[in-house]
Amino acid sequence: MKIIMLGAPGAGKGTQAKKIAEVCKIPHISTGDIFRANIKNGTGLGQKAKEYMDQGLLVPDELVCDLVVDRIQQPDCKKGYILDGFPRTIPQAEALTNALNAIDEKMEYAINIEIPDENIIRRMSGRRACVGCGATYHLVYNPPKIENICDVCGEKLILREDDKPETVKKRLDVYHNQTQPLIDYYEKQNILKDVDGTKSMDEVFKDILAILGV
Ligand code: AP5
Repeated sequence: MKIIMLGAPGAGKGTQAKKIAEVCKIPHISTGDIFRANIKNGTGLGQKAKEYMDQGLLVPDELVCDLVVDRIQQPDCKKGYILDGFPRTIPQAEALTNALNAIDEKMEYAINIEIPDENIIRRMSGRRACVGCGATYHLVYNPPKIENICDVCGEKLILREDDKPETVKKRLDVYHNQTQPLIDYYEKQNILKDVDGTKSMDEVFKDILAILGV
């Protein structure tokens, strides 16, 4: 199964993508996680990406497209994958469509998690991310068992640099200008499925499973 997660920053793409990946036994490919891992490891890619991410801007297409096109051709992606945070611009979507056409494959689902901007600002201030494994929590909706400690790996939880309110507002502007047009793009490909992201995490998950028929 080949799935794309669409939605504004904080809509719940990562939360749902991890659960879907587990149930469908396919890799979860998050470009945000890939960049954060590169920043943590001090790579050249990480240094370049950080300049943009800290300002709430998108990393240039040329730093993202080849990376994802290479990743989806790895052996673990043979039975499918779930893309979280990619594509984010029309040129990225076109690069993906072209790469799939070249191997006679097609994207199957573009799941669009819909949520108003007001809810997002509230959600992001409560999100905490693990510095070790990248797992995400929410102070109210999905708290860790021990305050500020990751349930999965025991490392510290932090407020992401780009989750500060001013940067979230910038990310929302960028989303509306550059990423929202992908909704039309995938509607034209007849694979767009809208989901109400204001429901609880479990309800959103059930709605997505019903769409996927699993
Ligand atoms: P990325 O990491 O992809 O960030 P994003 O798309 O802005 O998405 P988020 O991770 O912020 O949110 P999410 O939708 O996954 O929400 P989550 O599930 O965590 O990208 C970061 C940056 O990297 C970008 O700004 C850009 O600079 C760069 N980048 C990445 N990909 C790129 C690309 N392709 N091209 C160019 N640049 C790129 O949920 C949010 C919070 O809400 C959590 O605390 C969660 O617990 C909680 N929550 C989730 N669902 C619910 C619910 N139903 N009810 C209540 N709370 C909920």
